[in-house]
Amino acid sequence: MRIDILSVVPALLESVFDHSIIARARKKGLVEIYLHDLHDFGIGKYKQVDDYMYGGGAGMVLRPEPLHQWIEKLKNERHYDEIIFMTPDAEVLNQNTVNELSLKKNIIIIAGHYKGIDERIRQLHVTREISIGDYVLSGGELPAAVLTDAVVRLIPGVLNDETSALSDSFQNGLLSPPVYTRPAEFKGIKVPDILLSGNHAAIEKWREEQSIQRTKKIRPDLLKK
Ligand code: ADE
Repeated sequence: MRIDILSVVPALLESVFDHSIIARARKKGLVEIYLHDLHDFGIGKYKQVDDYMYGGGAGMVLRPEPLHQWIEKLKNERHYDEIIFMTPDAEVLNQNTVNELSLKKNIIIIAGHYKGIDERIRQLHVTREISIGDYVLSGGELPAAVLTDAVVRLIPGVLNDETSALSDSFQNGLLSPPVYTRPAEFKGIKVPDILLSGNHAAIEKWREEQSIQRTKKIRPDLLKK
């Protein structure tokens, strides 16, 4: 899979993809991630990428030309399955969308900034718009990182234990059960006996019950779905 991210501050994302699971996936050649600076196609001597809003209003808007030129350049090199714009005024990301996107070959992610991007880029190029939640961040870089991380860890071979992605919260529509590691007792609190029993069928049953209980308590809306 190949992911190209367009941003006015790509430096914000550099270290995010250079550590841990994503870095290993890149090294293994399971995913290619490229960060592109919109200033490369900025306008004039100062490589301007934003401008005032037509009609007035506080905040700057990303001009269409730098985005258009980067997108055209990338599209001329290969086919893209999706061109995604990270924005709060969009469908909210969930595990179904992540699963679907993990099957794509090439995607572009646009991280907006300021008041957003010129609407014509949405009309001309964007195939999908995704929000990471009902709150506003100062830019689309962190949302682009969230989406990339969620997608990349599902690519086969990225996680060592192939089943661990399947047992994530949300993969079965439920929250995860509690997990414990050593020591068997900590600050007077014991690991539940069942987990030390070696009875795998009983442990599975306990985990499922715990998942359902937790979901009922914390996210009852998930059970209604
Ligand atoms: N840009 C700013 N806030 C955002 C959000 N909640 N989701 C996606 N992109 C954003």
